[in-house]
Amino acid sequence: MTGHEAVKAAAKDRRLVHDPRRVEGAGHGIPTRRYPLDGVSVSRHVLSADADDHARLRGLLRPFLTSDAVAQRAPAVRRSVDRALDRFAERGGGDLVADLALPVASEAVAQLLGLPLERTRELVGLSLRLSGPMHPDTPEMAAAATTMNKRLAAVVAHTRRHPGNNLTTALLAAYQEGGVSKNELLGSLSFVLFAAVDSTMTTIPSGVLHLLADTQREARRSLVDGTAQALSVLEDTIRLAAPFTHGVWRFASEPMSLGEYRVEVGDPVVLCFPAANVDPRVWPSAWEVRPDRSGPARHVSFGYGPHFCPGAELGRLQMRTALVELFRRFPDLRLAVDRGELACHANITRPFVTMPVLTDLATAANNTSHHR
Ligand code: HEM
Repeated sequence: MTGHEAVKAAAKDRRLVHDPRRVEGAGHGIPTRRYPLDGVSVSRHVLSADADDHARLRGLLRPFLTSDAVAQRAPAVRRSVDRALDRFAERGGGDLVADLALPVASEAVAQLLGLPLERTRELVGLSLRLSGPMHPDTPEMAAAATTMNKRLAAVVAHTRRHPGNNLTTALLAAYQEGGVSKNELLGSLSFVLFAAVDSTMTTIPSGVLHLLADTQREARRSLVDGTAQALSVLEDTIRLAAPFTHGVWRFASEPMSLGEYRVEVGDPVVLCFPAANVDPRVWPSAWEVRPDRSGPARHVSFGYGPHFCPGAELGRLQMRTALVELFRRFPDLRLAVDRGELACHANITRPFVTMPVLTDLATAANNTSHHR
């Protein structure tokens, strides 16, 4: 599904389910791991659950992601962004993926899960490998999955000894009270690592790329100056920077019609949020960031319906802080390579392998003469 209305209708249609085990013949015999985001389909967590199971698992996350909880994080997110940008200033540039989005997202998830940063970094590295483009049947992937399980078990043991006001402690308490299974406990931890980090590693670099266009000077200024349009600029940038490039999917639990398509029991249905976000019937000049779009929250970058992203406020906070500070500190920011040279992953969530940028004109000039 690619149209804006069609994607929204499918996202809230409860006949399309997430848990393939609930549908006889889901995928028609093709192992679910052949679908992209294998781990998301087969492990037990909020996004692979439906109905009561979904509500139960989602309820455990909610207290840690409310607007109030996220507002308290603002100073910590600002410190992460500042630290990353100090390094950009020292070196005259950096990589928006590895040197900005990755540390900012990793530090936020470390806080959310209540884990030491070093341990979180290792977990994030494993998570990125597991959600990466490598085929799920390779020995490297099997080894990464085994290591991930061992590390998550160690995280649970650590949290048992050092409980705190964090999501891991809450999940562990629910497990000890019989409210979640062991698979759900481990699945929830690994899914949060994936959901919080992969998405931010898409939205920050992609958002910057859109705003770097010459035509977006006003939009950049509005963000930095915090004008009345700044909020709309941010939302419209998030619209164009949506993750899950190739779509998320559900399985039909009964025969049904979706627009012009007939769908049979077990058919996978792919919802492409990024495509829905550039539907020309909803957004004229869809590929431009514009401050004057009516109804700023109509994009579906954070999904739609019962599985709407519970981390949306945290995602917005990270995105706003990163974009505002980047363009405030480095008004001459530019890509260090041509747009066409930006390497892309072939996987579902993170489009860019790297996005090198230069922070000032002097470095940019040196770099150009060096290349010549
Ligand atoms: C800008 C950053 C982010 C974007 C664009 C984003 C996007 C999305 C989207 C599109 C979905 C729906 C997937 C579907 O319907 O199949 C989703 C779900 C989810 N996201 Fe985010 N996300 C972001 C940040 C975060 C963060 C920081 C967290 C932190 C915990 C998070 C946690 C989740 C969870 C737990 C779900 C599953 C919800 C459910 O199944 O009910 N996300 N996200």
